[in-house]
Amino acid sequence: MPALNPARPRLVERYRDYLPVTAATPVVSLGEGATPLVRARRLGASIGLPNVYLKIEGQNPTGSFKDRGMVMAVAKALEGGARSVICASTGNTSASAAAYAAAAGLECVVVLPAGKIAVGKLLQALVFGARVISVSGNFDDALNVVRALSEQDDHPITLVNSVNPFRIEGQKTAAFEICDDLGCAPDILSIPVGNAGNISAYWRGFLDYREDGVVAAVPRMWGFQASGAAPLVLGHPVEHPETVATAIRIGNPASWNSAVAARDDSGGRISAVTDQQILHAHRELARLEGVFCEPASAASVAGVIQAAQDRQLDPDALVVCVLTGNGLKDPTTAEAGLTVNVTEAEPTVAGVAHALGWT
Ligand code: F0G
Repeated sequence: MPALNPARPRLVERYRDYLPVTAATPVVSLGEGATPLVRARRLGASIGLPNVYLKIEGQNPTGSFKDRGMVMAVAKALEGGARSVICASTGNTSASAAAYAAAAGLECVVVLPAGKIAVGKLLQALVFGARVISVSGNFDDALNVVRALSEQDDHPITLVNSVNPFRIEGQKTAAFEICDDLGCAPDILSIPVGNAGNISAYWRGFLDYREDGVVAAVPRMWGFQASGAAPLVLGHPVEHPETVATAIRIGNPASWNSAVAARDDSGGRISAVTDQQILHAHRELARLEGVFCEPASAASVAGVIQAAQDRQLDPDALVVCVLTGNGLKDPTTAEAGLTVNVTEAEPTVAGVAHALGWT
């Protein structure tokens, strides 16, 4: 078989030494990883921080960072002889699981909180052929159900939520890419937090690189939750989480302890940002940087904007904000915040010039 695009090795090949892959692990890839790290010059200037970078995870195959973990979880499921996978999801995990399961020829079951999945994500699960079950509860309820189902013996099925350790292993590669691109670790890694797997995964990646001597220092981990769904900030589960950022509408994160460890061991913080701050950051990223992320992703930038305003950041700090998912997944929320301004014109030079106010 030819080596496809050897100049851009896939995540699993590039970081093989850091991943639990063996000769027996099947190769599954949709081209995940190697996402852009983009300097946010205009946004950074607007808040007095010249060294802000965006890790654009929405450019993964299904449009979110979940693909990094899913490629590993599905490869390991195949290696173990699984025939089907299951997950609970606020949308992105189900889109990713459905895609990788399709590519691997596995059955996929997704259990979703009714009415709270962005339209693009639900569409992805459906087009990839997953069996979609909607429950009249929230993500936490759905996760409890799939955990229990995956432990029953009568219907063997592999759980691919981030409680599956292979998910975390795959997702830590984003930390490697950031260090490889910058030539060092950032001072601050800012990231949205929902079920808390990703902050845990990044922290593990930075620790792996420091242990290996690839980087001398590790960043402070700054996690941001939506204020209506901020259990880690409050220090107790939230029974009825609510936020416009449906991806992180989670009241009892499964990776609670490892997220708190990442925060404390890095000298970091986990704070809350309001829906208003999230939507403001969402718009500013588009308006100033040409980057369209989904609302939950903008929590990382909302938190940095707040910290800059509160003068909690050294202006020289090297800050990386993780933009976890693509804005096209949730057109409904994006459109709701827009003044749609489309002017009709005749299909002629004179007509368009007139519409532009040039004549
Ligand atoms: N950003 C996006 C776009 C997400 O989809 C998620 C989680 C997060 C941030 C938070 O990451 O859970 O590792 O702390 N989405 C999960 C899902 C829960 O089902 O798609 P986390």
